[in-house]
Amino acid sequence: MTEVLEPIPNGRRNFLTLLTTGAITGATLGALYPVVNYFIPPNKGGGSGGVFARSRDGKEILASKLLADEPAGTRVISQGLTVNSGTATYIVIDDDKKIANFGLNAVCPHLGCVVPWDGGIGKFKCPCHGSTYDKDGGLVRGPSPRPLALTKAAVKDDKIEFSPWTEKDFRKTDLYSDPNPWWT
Ligand code: FES
Repeated sequence: MTEVLEPIPNGRRNFLTLLTTGAITGATLGALYPVVNYFIPPNKGGGSGGVFARSRDGKEILASKLLADEPAGTRVISQGLTVNSGTATYIVIDDDKKIANFGLNAVCPHLGCVVPWDGGIGKFKCPCHGSTYDKDGGLVRGPSPRPLALTKAAVKDDKIEFSPWTEKDFRKTDLYSDPNPWWT
């Protein structure tokens, strides 16, 4: 006599399918994790989401040397945090010859040119389409629709640490005065 197999009840079948799918998904995710991780660039140090400012040749900038070499009120470009798709960040040396608690991302919010500092007029002027920013990166002339992005800056063991600026934007000009940071 042929043995007739009992059909698996629907509920049990669904449960078995779920178990198998779960196991396969788990194994796939487990295998993918190190691959995905491999492509995420490592944090370059500084802790708490911060990075230390570096010169063009990749060396860490020392605050004491910078202050000895540069005049009060200037802005010095460095490699900093990636904000607005670029790492070029100005260190702000204030009028009292101290390093300010904010840095300025140098990428023009119009179409992405790096904006040079013009010490003669005390402003940032974009060579691409003429957007102009005051000494704190506030927008004073378009076509850029926004000011330069801010980062926090702090001196630690003579190095300059940049970290994300998520607080209100303190700059106000006739063209732009929204206190919410547009770059977060
Ligand atoms: S990219 Fe700076 S004004 Fe256009």
